[in-house]
Amino acid sequence: MDSHNSRVLFVSSESRPFASTGGLSDVADALPVELNRKGLRVERIMPLFRAVVDGQKKGGYSIHRTPHTLVIPLGMELIPADIYACEHQNTLTYFVGNEEFFDRKELYALPHREYRDNFERFLFFQKAVVALIDGLGRPYDVVHCNDWQCGLIPALLEKGINGTGRDGQEKTLMTIHNLAYQGVAEATKLFLTNLPGNTLDQYPELEFYGKLNQLKAGLVGADRVSTVSPTYAREIETESFGCGLEGVLKGLDTPVKGIVNGVNVEQWNPETDPALPANYTAKALSGKEQCKQALLKEFGLSYHKELPLFVLISRLVSQKGVDLISQAMENMMQLPLQFVLLGSGQEEYQNMVLSWQERWPENFSCFIGYDADLSHRIEAGGDFFLMPSVFEPCGLNQLYSLRYGTLPIVNRVGGLVDTVQDLRLDASHGTGFVMSATSPESLLECVREATSLFHDKKRLRTVRQRGMNQDVSWANCAGEYIELYNSL
Ligand code: ADP
Ligand code: GLC
Repeated sequence: MDSHNSRVLFVSSESRPFASTGGLSDVADALPVELNRKGLRVERIMPLFRAVVDGQKKGGYSIHRTPHTLVIPLGMELIPADIYACEHQNTLTYFVGNEEFFDRKELYALPHREYRDNFERFLFFQKAVVALIDGLGRPYDVVHCNDWQCGLIPALLEKGINGTGRDGQEKTLMTIHNLAYQGVAEATKLFLTNLPGNTLDQYPELEFYGKLNQLKAGLVGADRVSTVSPTYAREIETESFGCGLEGVLKGLDTPVKGIVNGVNVEQWNPETDPALPANYTAKALSGKEQCKQALLKEFGLSYHKELPLFVLISRLVSQKGVDLISQAMENMMQLPLQFVLLGSGQEEYQNMVLSWQERWPENFSCFIGYDADLSHRIEAGGDFFLMPSVFEPCGLNQLYSLRYGTLPIVNRVGGLVDTVQDLRLDASHGTGFVMSATSPESLLECVREATSLFHDKKRLRTVRQRGMNQDVSWANCAGEYIELYNSL
């Protein structure tokens, strides 16, 4: 396949600027744009969530209805899918619309529980993707599937949305952004797929301990599987990180390919970032101190020149090491430092974080919610970024932190290992601190080291500049996806 002519449909449940809950949306935003810049013809497709419609003015895009209205079978029911589209940054995005399924406050879950019909919602989406490919009447060379919300697409491309067969020639790439989410549903829901036959025994590639597992279907059904860092690609073949799918992954004909995520360096640029109160560069860092002052004010904390500011931006879920922080918090808050946190997620974690604010009102402040502009101001205003994830397929916040001169403190897992060099192991190339173990003690040790580095202003500046000068752009890593598409 000649990459310059290859047509790719990038399928993702979320993409910035349209709708976002985490890093998948950053990748779905920037990677297709970069591939188009490199001469491929990539289009995107995602659900028409309420956030997509509501975000038009602020996001600087406008969507329009296309002539395509598809009729999607889910078991015996026929459900309409209205297709919308939007051209943004030279990249065409299709949206699958259905009010009942997607016109909701959140994308997947309320703070206390997931939407109960997520299987139906995303099966509908996946079928609509296949129906639209047929409806458009122009074949794609590659359908690039991302995470469990796309896991059934390889099977649907082969068997058709009615289960009666289909003639497609598309190759499929399945990218794992997070193996912990697999889209598992009760076996009794199999009939909704309209695949021929009605028991899971006939579909070992879908079956997982008596249930239906959409991600497994994608891993087995796709022509190739990739994930978002080389270290995570190796980790998920082990019991500790494989989430029960390690055997499936080890059994694939071709090993899982790991490609580290890039950064949208236009959006994440401290020199031009419009969300910041002051801009700065690696050479002229004074604006960063202004950002810190403004950030502390915004969070109701007072500015002390001699106190380092630790920051954290995250989905509040166990993956992100919130429990480790909780275990380290008593000792950490005894140190001379300040700590600002932005996050949302599980209710118990949200409450825990709010209780820290009551306990240490002078030195800790948080905002519970999702706020993209604020996340930029935090990246700029912080001195150190905490990311003690228990596992991390790639992670983007440590990369944004490098760009913004905010030294990352990360756990020794997944993409964090591939992107942050430990200062303690290599003083002349180090860009941050890498914990030696998944423990509160290791985290505390890094925080202590960071606090002392903060007072060595000359060295702090050198390390900041080193991180800021690193090339973490998509221009650097998108080529690996082109090679992968070509290899199909
Ligand atoms: P994950 O995808 O596992 O959540 P990543 O580090 O890959 O982790 O990506 C997280 C992305 O989501 C980053 O762009 C980060 O800034 C953003 N993000 C997470 N939580 C929030 C929040 N509460 N407000 C704003 N942005 C957030
Ligand atoms: C997932 C992972 C994160 C990764 C992101 C984008 O949400 O948790 O590590 O950076 O996807 O690939």
